Amino acid sequence: MLRILTDPQGYKEKEDLYLAVRRKEERVMSVDQIRLLPNMPSGTPHAAEWLIRKRSYQRLHGYLHIRFSSPETSILDVGCGNGWMTNALSQNGRFHATGIDLNMTELTLADEAFSGSPRVRFAYGDILGGALSGRTFDAIVLASSCQYFSNLAELMETLRDLLQPGGEIHVIDTPFYMDDKIPQARERSRAYYHLLGYPDMANCYFHHSHNEMRRLGGVDLNAKRIPFLAKLLQRPQFPWFKMSREVFSDG
Ligand SMILES: C[S@@+](CC[C@H](N)C(=O)[O-])C[C@H]1O[C@@H](n2cnc3c(N)ncnc32)[C@H](O)[C@@H]1O
Repeated sequence: MLRILTDPQGYKEKEDLYLAVRRKEERVMSVDQIRLLPNMPSGTPHAAEWLIRKRSYQRLHGYLHIRFSSPETSILDVGCGNGWMTNALSQNGRFHATGIDLNMTELTLADEAFSGSPRVRFAYGDILGGALSGRTFDAIVLASSCQYFSNLAELMETLRDLLQPGGEIHVIDTPFYMDDKIPQARERSRAYYHLLGYPDMANCYFHHSHNEMRRLGGVDLNAKRIPFLAKLLQRPQFPWFKMSREVFSDG
């Protein structure tokens, strides 16, 4: 069942804009499609992007599976959208996964698709507004959602307070930029949303830098592990930032 932790009043306008954009981009899926993710049949919209996302999910899951061995491991999926990853993480039978989002439409689909899974929960709430204060998790994951938060430091501080000792934050599937490339990236997004017919969306999409993540204590595990292989195979990939609670606190 979907829990409501934040009053939806005040978020509706943003949700409507976001959904209109996602529909135009053909990113709002049916329950049947959501259940297939991260597998997306070739020929369907964004199939190539989902191939990249499937690989990053598999690497993340492989890592978490080894790093957190307790059968009571708790994972929070921030900005879970339609909940595909929340559900996928719970399928190993060890993780309890909670997905939180501010999009009632996507969450309703998530709930319909996965409410039968005993280790999955979904909540409507603003993670920055204290929706989960008092709760703690072993790991917090953000897949393709950091770019919807304007202030990374505020976000990471909020998430750090939701981590158990020894806990970790993982950020995947978000583009990060070199500092000097951010103005051009911002301009590209403005032009893109203008062309799409929703120029205001540019005010809800943010560009963050590798350096900012590093200053906050993040380590790009992809930069350490496989850039050579990825380049060789010409497989594009996003950075994969890990922030451990202790390192982050000291930084
Ligand atoms: C592109 S979607 C990512 C969906 C999903 N994680 C995936 O892998 O496809 C980003 C999500 O972040 C959510 N979001 C943005 N700000 C939020 C906040 N303050 N609290 C909770 N969710 C938020 C948005 O509503 C949106 O559904």
